[in-house]
Amino acid sequence: MQRARITGTGGFLPETVWTNAKLESIMDTSDEWIRKRTGIGQRHLAAAGEGSSDMGTPAARDALAHAGVAPEEVDLIICCTTMPDYLFPATACLIQDRIGARNAGAFDVNAACSGFVCGLASANAYIRSGVYRTVVVVGAESQTNRLNWEKRDTAVLFGDGAGAVVLQAEDGDRGILSTFLGSDGSGGDLLIIPAGGSKAPVTKENAGGPECDIQMKGAELFKQATALFEEASTKALELAGLSLEDVDVFVPHQANARIIGAAAKRLGLPDEKVVMNIERVANTTSASIPLALHEAVAGGRVTEGDTVLLASFGAGLTWGAAVIRW
Ligand code: UT7
Repeated sequence: MQRARITGTGGFLPETVWTNAKLESIMDTSDEWIRKRTGIGQRHLAAAGEGSSDMGTPAARDALAHAGVAPEEVDLIICCTTMPDYLFPATACLIQDRIGARNAGAFDVNAACSGFVCGLASANAYIRSGVYRTVVVVGAESQTNRLNWEKRDTAVLFGDGAGAVVLQAEDGDRGILSTFLGSDGSGGDLLIIPAGGSKAPVTKENAGGPECDIQMKGAELFKQATALFEEASTKALELAGLSLEDVDVFVPHQANARIIGAAAKRLGLPDEKVVMNIERVANTTSASIPLALHEAVAGGRVTEGDTVLLASFGAGLTWGAAVIRW
């Protein structure tokens, strides 16, 4: 059976690093609070004018190099981002041009923190149906330039970066075994930037105001996150005909170390199977899973034959999971 196999992974983090100590110097917060409540110790920050495509491009190049795939061989580029360089054109098109993928289609996916799992599910469907043979899925977020550093409840949580994977059609039993996606738009107001879209464009009156910032009901999201991680994971495993005991490596969205810990506990997955890089990179939204996966692969934590479970949860609400035989 033809499957979509991940043949290369890549990552990129911008140069500037802000530790929690740096945040202590600009707002009313503390290293102790941030570490205890979130597990975050530092985050990477894009430079002024450094957009999501500037991060997605090196991550995609890195993944192609690891896969040994030439840019001309790529059939499709999917860029998962909540912070596209522009409202249009799609950030995927900017990446397509810069990596020289002249035979590829390109489009963006916005499903917030679940964006990468949605992009991966789409790529899998294209490959399984025989439409495409080689797809690059990028998660890229340049989001700190838009943060309001006076809002400590959200500013301490996020970081910038990108991750990417190359998926290729291959016969055999390695590759993506299943994907599951869920959504509940009635929870849209739990995590939202109200202004800047078609419903409430940025005007002279609202510019710089609270409507242009991230508004988050953190505690409510927290409650939903652990249950939805579990639902997505168990459903994807069921679709793959596997159980939790089969999972060798768990790569969850990195929203909060406490959420990851609680989800892993509910799933009965021991710490050594759980990939966590939130301490170094914070919450990078769509980039979080591909970046953590890339680091796990590069660090030798994922080896051939492993069953890898990816799971996400985020604004929308959206949630999802994928099961991969490496
Ligand atoms: O990426 C996917 C979507 N995101 C999530 O799923 C995030 C889910 N939620 C969370 O991770 C947590 O709810 C947060 C980390 C956002 C907040 O943690 P919490 O334990 O739920 O704290 P809280 O919002 O209930 O706030 C507790 C206290 C408040 O003070 P009072 O009212 O108890 O006096 C806040 O004002 O902590 C205060 N606080 C802070 N203190 C220092 C909030 N932010 C900060 C801060 N530094 N940065």
